[in-house]
Amino acid sequence: MQGADGKIHSKKGNKMKKNIVLVGFMGSGKTSVGKRLSMMLKREFIDMDDFIEKREQMTVNEIFAKKGEPYFRSLEKELCKRFSTGGGKIIATGGGVIKDAENVANLKEGGTIFYLKSTPEKIADNLKNDNTRPLLNVDDKVSKIRELMAERASFYENCYDVVIDVSKQEIEETVRELMTYISDLSS
Ligand code: S3P
Repeated sequence: MQGADGKIHSKKGNKMKKNIVLVGFMGSGKTSVGKRLSMMLKREFIDMDDFIEKREQMTVNEIFAKKGEPYFRSLEKELCKRFSTGGGKIIATGGGVIKDAENVANLKEGGTIFYLKSTPEKIADNLKNDNTRPLLNVDDKVSKIRELMAERASFYENCYDVVIDVSKQEIEETVRELMTYISDLSS
């Protein structure tokens, strides 16, 4: 499906399913968009990183440092399984969940996947004052973003139902586009 402005493309004309799942690179706006959608649609909002931090009583940085990335990924995997059933939620995933095929299958089972697609430049700008992402705590952030994005591009491209280019727009516009899409599917 294509929006009037040509920015929204659906791969398969999927019917709107239970959860609205937001995927995309770190700093693409999943949490901000999800919070606003949740208020507008009066649906529960789950931020996976937040959920994990509360459960572990540690920040993501601390989990990576003390327990290691594989442990963090196992918690993400458990959450994706959990959200394959139930529904009615808005879910902001962590940027790395899509690397695991089982995660994607579970998220798809429970919802429609919206990919917020951005560029390294825009991501770097959004995250210039952020040090909460362990994978980006390096000297040359922009290069690391480029490297990770290139590594993950095919995972993102293959997992979505709907893609929105968020590289040249503010959160409000993304929310508006998503709302149009969601109401189109529900009508
Ligand atoms: C990660 C993304 C982060 C968080 C962790 C790892 C990744 O979530 O899960 O730092 O591998 O891309 P956000 O996408 O919400 O920043």
